[in-house]
Amino acid sequence: MSDTPLKVAVTGAAGQIGYSLLFRIASGAIAGDRPVELRLLEIEPALKALEGVVMELDDCAFPNLAGVEIGADPTKIFEGVNLALLVGARPRGPGMERGDLLEANGAIFTAQGKALNEVAADDVRIGVTGNPANTNALIAMSNAPDIPQERFSALTRLDHNRAISQLAAKTGAPVTEIKKMTIWGNHSATQYPDLFHAEVSGKNAAEAVGDQEWLESYFIPTVAKRGAAIIDARGASSAASAASATCDAARDWLYGTPEGDWVSMAVVSDGSYDVPEGLVSSFPVTTSNGDWTIVQGLDIDDFSRGRIDASVAELADEKQAVTDLGLI
Ligand code: NAD
Ligand code: LMR
Repeated sequence: MSDTPLKVAVTGAAGQIGYSLLFRIASGAIAGDRPVELRLLEIEPALKALEGVVMELDDCAFPNLAGVEIGADPTKIFEGVNLALLVGARPRGPGMERGDLLEANGAIFTAQGKALNEVAADDVRIGVTGNPANTNALIAMSNAPDIPQERFSALTRLDHNRAISQLAAKTGAPVTEIKKMTIWGNHSATQYPDLFHAEVSGKNAAEAVGDQEWLESYFIPTVAKRGAAIIDARGASSAASAASATCDAARDWLYGTPEGDWVSMAVVSDGSYDVPEGLVSSFPVTTSNGDWTIVQGLDIDDFSRGRIDASVAELADEKQAVTDLGLI
């Protein structure tokens, strides 16, 4: 493994997710033993709080933390970064859908897309966690014309992990026995967690469950509405689990998916599975050497087709909305 530090930018670093994410990254959750250098972006009023978080990072004496820089200017913080985790954005509150944040958050991603385009390293990968994540990734991508579009992705790994956990609880299998989970579409209530291609101990998951009523009336809504359930219970949106999923997604993107499995990532569509080209939609992907490939050839039955189409239609509406706002 390289001794050159991986330069990782995190935006919204003084926020809730940041408070968990930075410590996970610094202790090796993405790059293992490779040293990491953290570049932390915040808005000016949050820099003092961020200084406190940096004091805590110092106090952990992480052996692989090679340096920390903080600031409010994206063109300074993103200089030479290999990985940019765009977390900083307003979270939704009770009763809101993530799409309600488009207007408030979209503009953040035009400026950050432009800054990444100008100063990031040639090999940069950009993961968007801030909501609405798919369309924010589309905005950043559209504002960074010199960065290949495949370098952008939005986080649906949290939904993927939630789906694995629900299936494990239903079947009694350990999470390690669950493979080939897929989240299709948008990181929103319309997302489609797909059990027809997933496996439990090598057996088809939908058959292993054998309960269409559970799948339709419990599994899909529980996974799709988990974010709202956490907001109701905690009074704030998911943070530690979001940080954990952000690390899982970045680690697998940079270092590869295991043989015989795949992960869910929202990436720019090439028209696969009739998802219109150019939308940032979640697919089953494998990764190798920092590149992802959409898993091809899965049979999509009418039930799945309807669910995928509904989520993709919402993505198309979001794209139209940010076009109308002049963000892309
Ligand atoms: P938070 O409000 O605790 O923190 C957000 C931070 O972003 C704040 O510190 C704020 O100052 C900062 N920020 C705002 N504008 C910024 C800018 N232009 N540049 C840099 N930093 C900026 O919110 P949180 O709980 O950490 O959540 C962050 C985002 O992640 C929200 O949009 C939330 O909805 C989203 N989220 C996504 C997922 C997912 O699975 N994709 C999961 C959980 C949360
Ligand atoms: C989640 O899925 O937990 C996040 O996207 C936060 C939210 O608004 O639901």
